[in-house]
Amino acid sequence: MQDITKDLIYPLFVKDGKNLREKIKSMPGIYRFSPDTLIKEARELVKLGIRAVLIFGLTKEKDNAGSAAYEENNIVARAVKALKANFPDLIVMTDICLCAYTSHGHCGILKSPRRQVTRSQVKIDNKKTLELLSKMALSHARAGADYVAPSAMAKNQVLAIREALDKNGFRNTKIMGYSAKYASNFYGPFREAADSTPAFGDRRAYQLNFANRTSAIEEIKADIKEGADIVMIKPALGYLDVIKEARDRFYRPLAAYNVSGEYTMVKAYCKSTEYRAQSTELERKLVMEILTGIKRAGADLIITYHAKDIAKWLKKRKIR
Ligand code: PBG
Repeated sequence: MQDITKDLIYPLFVKDGKNLREKIKSMPGIYRFSPDTLIKEARELVKLGIRAVLIFGLTKEKDNAGSAAYEENNIVARAVKALKANFPDLIVMTDICLCAYTSHGHCGILKSPRRQVTRSQVKIDNKKTLELLSKMALSHARAGADYVAPSAMAKNQVLAIREALDKNGFRNTKIMGYSAKYASNFYGPFREAADSTPAFGDRRAYQLNFANRTSAIEEIKADIKEGADIVMIKPALGYLDVIKEARDRFYRPLAAYNVSGEYTMVKAYCKSTEYRAQSTELERKLVMEILTGIKRAGADLIITYHAKDIAKWLKKRKIR
């Protein structure tokens, strides 16, 4: 088994405070950090050979416009600065989306939010959303982010952010597009972690229908045209056909997001009474099988909450 540690991207949740290492109930082993403890965590990651992290900012200050996402010196900007100051070679990526910052929990700005409470199909103001996503991306770029990763599924989000970055002198800041992001039932634990469950309606108005393969291919094509340096498919496990097709069609580096629900399933399986006794060994085998499957389908990079464990297992050379 080759060392895939170098291809892994580890998600990190960061919020304001000091000395925080908050458990996330549905994701055993994953924590919310404050900027100080984040540095400790990153030190361990770097030692393990993990090359890249994806930062998610959390906040209590939520409003209709998700202001905390792009305010000056926002939580992610501070985290990025601290990480780059301590670990200049660590590749720091940041998630660009408003859902953890808006009071309604949607990924963009809503057209007249009060009137939408009873609607099942939410309506997003795309233009306003692009403006704010660009502002958010710029604030992270200024802090030193290597990649910004728009995940709001707003139309032309990659193009808008590319233009904003270029105009402001950040030609070298790269973009990883959440190009084919499905409206999945596997994001539940993440929404607990980020407190980003929509207050009403769902994300089907802007995320892809999981029955549809061709629209994913179209979205990836569009993101490449708009200037994405890496394209991503999310989730991973139920979407290996999409990963394979993207691999065959496109030459852009391809990432797959092995999402929170996929992580939690593995943990729950290993913890179940039937398998508890062999859980460590079983977990290692399961995770390696899953990761190998995603690789085999054609992903260059894998964003996964298992990254730390994988790096540890591979370090011990226990892998066959
Ligand atoms: C933000 C975002 C989500 C995830 C990554 N970025 C949640 C969502 O779309 O509801 C999910 C990641 C995971 O489940 O691990 N839009």
